[in-house]
Amino acid sequence: MNNFILSNLNKLKKIDIPNPEIDLRILLNYSKYAKNEIILSNINRNDINVKKFNKFLNRRLKHEPVSKIINKKSFWKDDFFVNEFVLDPRPETEGIIEESLNLIKNKKRNIKILDIGTGSGAIAISLSREFKNASITAIDISDKAINVANKNIYNKKLQHKVKIKKVSLDKINTSFDLIVSNPPYLSKSEYKDLSIEIKNFEPKIALDGGKDGLNFYRKLAKKVPEIMNKDAHLIIEIGEKQLNSCKEIFKFSGLSYIKKVQDLQKKDRIMLLSKL
Ligand SMILES: C[S@@+](CC[C@H](N)C(=O)[O-])C[C@H]1O[C@@H](n2cnc3c(N)ncnc32)[C@H](O)[C@@H]1O
Repeated sequence: MNNFILSNLNKLKKIDIPNPEIDLRILLNYSKYAKNEIILSNINRNDINVKKFNKFLNRRLKHEPVSKIINKKSFWKDDFFVNEFVLDPRPETEGIIEESLNLIKNKKRNIKILDIGTGSGAIAISLSREFKNASITAIDISDKAINVANKNIYNKKLQHKVKIKKVSLDKINTSFDLIVSNPPYLSKSEYKDLSIEIKNFEPKIALDGGKDGLNFYRKLAKKVPEIMNKDAHLIIEIGEKQLNSCKEIFKFSGLSYIKKVQDLQKKDRIMLLSKL
């Protein structure tokens, strides 16, 4: 490895960036002139736009996630445009897509789906890939998140299948067969203890679930049953310690609890409910 690589790698290691080699390789590849993939062991400095690379590296040295620097994050079967106004879609949220597929066996069904708090649009877009005849509505209250979701939908030419609306959950008055949501669910103290990578670079509105983290589940329990068709389902992401509280919140909602699903870290992550 040449000195250029070693010195930049050391800068990342010094501040405990978890996978410095991977990050460095990505940032180099996003600042290259050359067409070929850059590999750390065999790099020619002339292939790199050094000014651009230094800007990227300085952002990473301030703990900005690579996804926000390169404006790209993978989820399910797509890459999504992301920026500071949307939460990066996360692997554990893919459980919502998996459970939707487990639930609705006929992928050609003409169903109506609502994604509450769509952010980048990752859940809505992934569901539209799987359920080709579904009509999908995706809502968010953040103007800037709506812009990002629209950009992703436009880039993937899915305007005819996924409708994005800037509206709060309580204003929805049509009914759906499947409602999904990854709501903000961190408590005040969890939010306070977040890493710099999340706290400084992810939008607070996407994470802050109020004092005990459960505010949005209370809203869902109050509103969602009235916008569910007969036999409709609700699939939501929950915090790892929120299963019992969420069961309690939905107890008298008119929805019945079906099951929970754990993520790859064996933490309770997804909850399934159905209309009684
Ligand atoms: C945890 S993020 C989820 C983003 C995306 N669905 C994902 O899973 O990657 C929660 C989203 O809910 C939105 N939100 C917050 N309050 C809302 C409300 N009352 N109605 C609709 N969306 C809301 C936030 O703006 C944010 O984009």
